[in-house]
Amino acid sequence: MNTVEWSEALLLDYPPMDEVHHAFVDLLALAQAAPDAALPQAWAAVIDHTVLHFGREDDWMKRTRFAAADAHIMQHKVVLNVMREGLALARTGQMQAVREMAGELAVWFAKHTQTLDAALALHMRSAHPQGPLSRRGQGSGERATARP
Ligand SMILES: [Fe+2]
Ligand SMILES: [Fe+2]
Repeated sequence: MNTVEWSEALLLDYPPMDEVHHAFVDLLALAQAAPDAALPQAWAAVIDHTVLHFGREDDWMKRTRFAAADAHIMQHKVVLNVMREGLALARTGQMQAVREMAGELAVWFAKHTQTLDAALALHMRSAHPQGPLSRRGQGSGERATARP
């Protein structure tokens, strides 16, 4: 089973993204380690977090008119749709399919972070060194954490 662990290779040197990515890695690891009975709920937690994670990046790209926004936003949309299909599978007891999806998501996440997200982080660091928006910048306490 493919897994993803937090490491320096995933760091983008942009704390608002790095914090969310670290939380994603932790939630995905929890889902992958969950027994079948807990998998639907653990997978739902990954989805809830991902809605916030992708939504925040999409919002930054739109607000800052990031040139490569369309492909990145589309990739978020496709992946989230697949994850929601996974939740439907989990709720009908098809756990092996969800576990395979989790492994694919781990591989996808590392690649996405090191390519599209790295480009976005570079853009945000250079264009908005104080944070993406002054009212939502670093230190505001805002975090993309999953709701209970
Ligand atoms: Fe991301
Ligand atoms: Fe992204």
